[in-house]
Amino acid sequence: MNKVYKDYKDLPSPAYICDLSLLEKNLKLLNRIQEESNVNILLALKGFALWSTFDLCKKYLKGCCASGLHEALLAKEEFGKEVHTYSPAFNDDEIDEVLDLSNHVVFNSFSQWKRYREKALKKTSCGLRINPQYSEVVVDLYNPCAPYSRLGITKENFEADEVEGIEGLHFHALCEQNVDALEGVLKAFEKDFSQYFSQLKWVNFGGGHHITRDDYDVEGLITLLKNFKQKYPHLEVYLEPGEAVGWQTGYLMASVLDIVSNDKKIAILDTSAEAHMPDTLAMPYRADIKGAALKEVKKYSYVLAGNTCLAGDIICEYSFDSPLQVGSRIILEDMIHYTMVKTTTFNGIKLPSIILKENDCYRLVNEYGYNAYKSRLS
Ligand SMILES: Cc1ncc(COP(=O)(O)O)c(C=O)c1O
Repeated sequence: MNKVYKDYKDLPSPAYICDLSLLEKNLKLLNRIQEESNVNILLALKGFALWSTFDLCKKYLKGCCASGLHEALLAKEEFGKEVHTYSPAFNDDEIDEVLDLSNHVVFNSFSQWKRYREKALKKTSCGLRINPQYSEVVVDLYNPCAPYSRLGITKENFEADEVEGIEGLHFHALCEQNVDALEGVLKAFEKDFSQYFSQLKWVNFGGGHHITRDDYDVEGLITLLKNFKQKYPHLEVYLEPGEAVGWQTGYLMASVLDIVSNDKKIAILDTSAEAHMPDTLAMPYRADIKGAALKEVKKYSYVLAGNTCLAGDIICEYSFDSPLQVGSRIILEDMIHYTMVKTTTFNGIKLPSIILKENDCYRLVNEYGYNAYKSRLS
């Protein structure tokens, strides 16, 4: 492992290729926000868990936010700074280890808090996730405040007489959003829960802040955070973005295996929407492809399709300046956050290799064969 390639054309396909200079650019921006507004930014591992980059990430970020035992272990082993763990529900088998590993543990309900508080209070700083019942996320799949949401405690279900020992409140109600959406959520949070602030040590504003996107209002965020800190100077503030860390830091490189025709030309790739970029089907969204345009804009149009049996394993239809051929390389842009942590080996398909790009060199940090498939089954 850690084979180094000088020449792009020698790289194994398919592969996720993360550019460390782009990652560092994101980290520096996040760090500027931390420094100027005196808040703490954690990396949400659910969105970006490329641990071979953690030596770089930990130069800038305060630690990790974990979704349970395995992410907490990865945070401790590979990142080694603060670990903040939240799960919709912890289980009896894992809770002791989670408490040992975590600086903060956030419970999703009063029943979970009451079940574990005795041991939790001895080991960690405890918090509750609340549901502010305000979110501007329009797709219900990604809206933690959608009707009947299980994520967090609503004002109506908040048991004010059971909060002794609670040091923090947490909300997560954004998805790929700008400061205006945070402003709305914060207003709702303060309206319903600021009565408890005097007894707290920290608040956590969750993730979904699309801070590293070009049109994000960074100065607006700094102002908002400073104002909040001025109002409640005793509270430490945490943000836990995942996507914003890995945003536009690299791509998924794939190759054309075959070209078939059925009214349209269809290029079958050595990757899969279903297995390697599931958000293109779940969100759904149309991935950008380097050098390609919408169908029929350029001279040669192809449906790009995955190499599994799923009929809907279709990336989208694109057009190119020159015809694709077997062996042509396709670059699917911005496939580092969320994609890598969600991959599957459906159909026994090979997982993409992981490559880090640094100073015009490509370092292969992991590649996957038959064992990656077999070891998940028995
Ligand atoms: C509790 C919590 N924190 C942080 C995040 C990270 O969000 P994002 O990657 O959109 O910044 C999520 C994402 O679902 C989340 O559920």
